[in-house]
Amino acid sequence: MNIEKLKKQFFNLYGEGDCKIYFAPGRVNLIGEHVDYNGGRVFPCALTYGTYLVIREREDDSIFFASENFEYKTRISTSSIKRGNTEWVKYPLGVLDQFQKKGIKAKGMELLFSGNIPNGAGLSSSASVELVMSVAFNELAKANLDQVELVKMSQKAENDFVGVNCGIMDQFAIGMGVEGHALALNCDTLEYDIVPLEMDGYKLVIGNTNKQRGLADSKYNERCAECELAVELISRKQKIEFLCELNNKEFQDIEFLLSNDIVRRRAKHVVSENQRVFQAIDALKQGQLEEFGRLMNASHDSLRDDYEVTGIELDTMVEEARKLDGVLGSRMTGAGFGGCTVSLVKDETVETFIKTVGENYKKKIGIEADFYVAEIGDGAKRLQ
Ligand code: GLA
Repeated sequence: MNIEKLKKQFFNLYGEGDCKIYFAPGRVNLIGEHVDYNGGRVFPCALTYGTYLVIREREDDSIFFASENFEYKTRISTSSIKRGNTEWVKYPLGVLDQFQKKGIKAKGMELLFSGNIPNGAGLSSSASVELVMSVAFNELAKANLDQVELVKMSQKAENDFVGVNCGIMDQFAIGMGVEGHALALNCDTLEYDIVPLEMDGYKLVIGNTNKQRGLADSKYNERCAECELAVELISRKQKIEFLCELNNKEFQDIEFLLSNDIVRRRAKHVVSENQRVFQAIDALKQGQLEEFGRLMNASHDSLRDDYEVTGIELDTMVEEARKLDGVLGSRMTGAGFGGCTVSLVKDETVETFIKTVGENYKKKIGIEADFYVAEIGDGAKRLQ
């Protein structure tokens, strides 16, 4: 990102003068999918791609929103922040709404956002916008909230204002990420460890299917509801708050309570995926990358067969990836229904991977894919 160019663009829009610049990354989840809202463990990391925000306070009560990624621009008064706007500004507005709920009033501001994460690709461009707004406004308003609080407020913005019942994983990874590390996060207690991503000789390659995640939000909320139903049915016999309180063996003993096969399979994915996260973290700590890759594959298969959130595009890209020597594992990452895959690929194979998987995917699906070698960066922060 060319920061000087971005500043110039800001001055063109709003005039010269002092301004501050903030950054929040996107994220890639290595394993632990659809378990965060089930009280489980996840293993994401922050990317070096993300959202930049140039910000300046105004004396009056106007908030000016502009983005280099979208044409839509608007001015909203600090006293009229409310739900209903369906444009991208719903994300920063949702964040300001959370501050207001804490008694921290919005202020007049000039804002210019600029992102280099592909939108809607499952790398959390929306959570990145939320966090960059939270961190910037926290400083501008001298609110002094700690970073974990900003993470929680950003998740709430998405739940209450945008209407997606997402878990905490994306906002947490984006707020708390550490360069070169993944976060082993317990989504129930928010306790976490940072684990060095020592993958000598291997790279994490992100493949964007470029399939728009059309009905993703409604399907996502449907999965949340299916998990809640599973908890309710199991709790008639054995009280649990979250599916991830159960291990595989405990689940096998009570799965007969879930007579609806769809609900049973959803719960089976959640319980087994949570166990895989523990195993994957251990494997990585011990340098067992083959085992890590095997678990990535098992995660995808479970998301495909039991949780049913993959689709032909993600499945094809993963299948093509696994055909190559030098690929230890490949899976979808994020919510699914389109978006991105992540694969663990031998250094020497990366170029062939991008070429071959790209060509075969295009042949079968008819869409051009994009690939990025993941670089793991820090969480949201002020740059200037
Ligand atoms: C989306 C949500 C996250 C998480 C993932 C699936 O990215 O925002 O909270 O549930 O899907 O693991």
